[in-house]
Amino acid sequence: MLSGRKVLLIIGGGIAAYKSLDLIRRLSEQGVTVTPVLTEGGANFVTALSVSALAGQKLYQNLFDLDVESDIGHIQLSRAADIIVVAPATADLMAKMANGLANDLASTLLLATDKPVLIAPSMNVRMWHHPATRRNIATLKSDGIHVVGPDKGSMACGETGPGRMAEVPDIITSIQSVIQDGPLRGRHIIVTSGPTHEPIDPVRYIANRSSGKQGAAIANALLARGARVTFITGPAIAENPQGAEIVEIETAAEMLAAVDHAGPSDAAIFAAAVADWHVVGAGKSKIKKSASGGLPQFELAENPDILRAVSQRKSNRPELVVGFAAETDNVVENATGKRLRKGCDWILANDVSPETGIMGGDRNQIIFISDTGAEKWPEMSKNETANMLVNKIIEAFGDTDT
Ligand code: CTP
Repeated sequence: MLSGRKVLLIIGGGIAAYKSLDLIRRLSEQGVTVTPVLTEGGANFVTALSVSALAGQKLYQNLFDLDVESDIGHIQLSRAADIIVVAPATADLMAKMANGLANDLASTLLLATDKPVLIAPSMNVRMWHHPATRRNIATLKSDGIHVVGPDKGSMACGETGPGRMAEVPDIITSIQSVIQDGPLRGRHIIVTSGPTHEPIDPVRYIANRSSGKQGAAIANALLARGARVTFITGPAIAENPQGAEIVEIETAAEMLAAVDHAGPSDAAIFAAAVADWHVVGAGKSKIKKSASGGLPQFELAENPDILRAVSQRKSNRPELVVGFAAETDNVVENATGKRLRKGCDWILANDVSPETGIMGGDRNQIIFISDTGAEKWPEMSKNETANMLVNKIIEAFGDTDT
């Protein structure tokens, strides 16, 4: 899907630079032209020869060479690609970008470009948490710079935490979503995911067993086909999809507000397992055991039904509204009724009885319900389920060049 696209890849001076060699290979395999720029620091980690050999393109290393002898000036170079990717983006390079410095080739290209920029930060965990880096990343994000990662885990320096550069497939997914390539290019899709937590008091809450895996898989599949995705998630186990706009919420009320705030969308997919009730008057003080041994009494009130609210909107209703139905009995009958009651276009029903292992597991078995009836999908992984759904969405949108 990226075939024919051009990427200007800036390789900063970090140990993760070795992954950039693989990034060049994977992008080239997909028919992408990668023009590499190796910083002075980057050249301490990978050689100019391996970078240019893998890219099969001229390698650019310093401003002086470019301006004096090259046929292409730095302004032109900064605008010749569809996207500039900085991987690894070191704390130093991010600080330069946030402050508009232009004292070497990489920072000059980043200041001069009119193309989207995606950075893949990579640094020690303390450097990542340092207030200066926090400030810089906030500035970069508000300047419209796209960020992928960093991942959490053990690092080359022996410490553990966030700071590892994102993996190559995640960087490629992010490139796709930034340049929005693929049949869903130009489409904005909202995905809700995960459980909601409804407070009982400041330390206790009502929750459910949703892992958020199916929602995250759907968001990833949409991103890979070029959609712009707003991913609204409760506290889930699954990793957030790289390249989506992430909105983290806790309660159903917050989820509804986030969906309303996400603005008009072409489709909305409600994969979240929203709690049906909240505790009235959940206060600021922890509930204590009563001296008399009496049990606390909770009054529950119904949560807003987000799927129904969006499906029945009078204006700005998404063209396609998709819900899930988690059922334990009479799956088809209950889910068919649910589709009509809520007013959504499609329902993906599944049997979440404990023996199916679907809730929290990696596999799913869907009965797809639309106005033409019920269709049983084979049992498959949650990623495959996501791809099957996304193919249906692409089909429903038809020619999507908006
Ligand atoms: N949903 C929602 N807001 C709610 C409850 C559910 O948006 N307050 C959405 C879910 O994201 C899912 C669909 O509605 O897409 C169905 O959720 P489900 O829990 O199966 O149905 P409920 O409406 O809660 O009905 P019941 O619990 O009675 O089966």
